[in-house]
Amino acid sequence: MDLQLKNRVALVTAASQGLGYATALELSREGALVVICSRDEAHITAAADAIRAETGHSALGVAADVRRAADIDVLIERVVDEYGGLDILVTNSGGPAAAQFEDLTDEMWLEAIDLLIMSSVRLIRSALPHLRESTAPSVLSITSVSTKQPIPNLVLSNSLRMTVIGMIKTLAGELGPEGIRFNSILPGWTETERVHDLLESRARRNNTTIEVEYAVQAEQAALRRLATPREFATVAAFLCSPAASYLTGLMLSVDGGSYKGTF
Ligand SMILES: NC(=O)c1ccc[n+]([C@@H]2O[C@H](COP(=O)([O-])OP(=O)(O)OC[C@H]3O[C@@H](n4cnc5c(N)ncnc54)[C@H](OP(=O)(O)O)[C@@H]3O)[C@@H](O)[C@H]2O)c1
Repeated sequence: MDLQLKNRVALVTAASQGLGYATALELSREGALVVICSRDEAHITAAADAIRAETGHSALGVAADVRRAADIDVLIERVVDEYGGLDILVTNSGGPAAAQFEDLTDEMWLEAIDLLIMSSVRLIRSALPHLRESTAPSVLSITSVSTKQPIPNLVLSNSLRMTVIGMIKTLAGELGPEGIRFNSILPGWTETERVHDLLESRARRNNTTIEVEYAVQAEQAALRRLATPREFATVAAFLCSPAASYLTGLMLSVDGGSYKGTF
């Protein structure tokens, strides 16, 4: 199937590694011109170099912290200066701290709001004038299966990502008449650096090993294993591509059957 991504301009945030990187790489494999960002300049430059080397398509790495409004405006300007427009925005950020409700101060809640909610608000607001100029505009928000089934010890993710889901669904309705699609994709447990760190700390807490914790987590999925980043990324690339032109307002879980509910 042709995803019709050749020469489309795609911005993927928080993408020097993990789900963001895998998504940008997949879009680039399909011929998109990708811009990726993360906070560490050396790391994001190396990630863009790796994408270019693997796919042979143009890729640009920009150092930007998605918690900062000023960084977001500069980032979007950079995309448009480099490639002349923007067709696809994939909003992603680092994960919030793993914690239980009583561990959290007001400051920690407010920091997580900037990381998970305001980053999406500002990215979408700043991208909209350019998306309106595109012939196939779409926004894909990377959230979590925690929006369907809360994950223990992740109250920040379980609560704040619901706001993002609500905003994306609302925007699908508000901007659908202009042809702009808005979807969210809900990763289940995928083998990234963050998941490695989470399972390592779980092993320390439970006095087990990381292998045991991987196996326990794998048991939760109908497919009895975690996803690879590429399995997530192929779905993400499809969802934001013109090939998915009649899909909007969707919350799509990529979780190997971990979520047990019907809806
Ligand atoms: N992997 C999973 O199984 C899974 C499941 C559900 C939800 N999620 C969510 O999906 C998102 C990505 O997860 P992941 O597993 O790919 O995480 P990861 O391996 O930790 O990668 C996170 C990426 O985000 C960048 N980043 C972090 N904070 C940033 C900021 N403030 N501004 C810009 N870039 C930032 C990091 O680079 P720098 O540190 O250099 O900035 C890195 O490139 C997270 O929100 C996570 O909670 C993941």
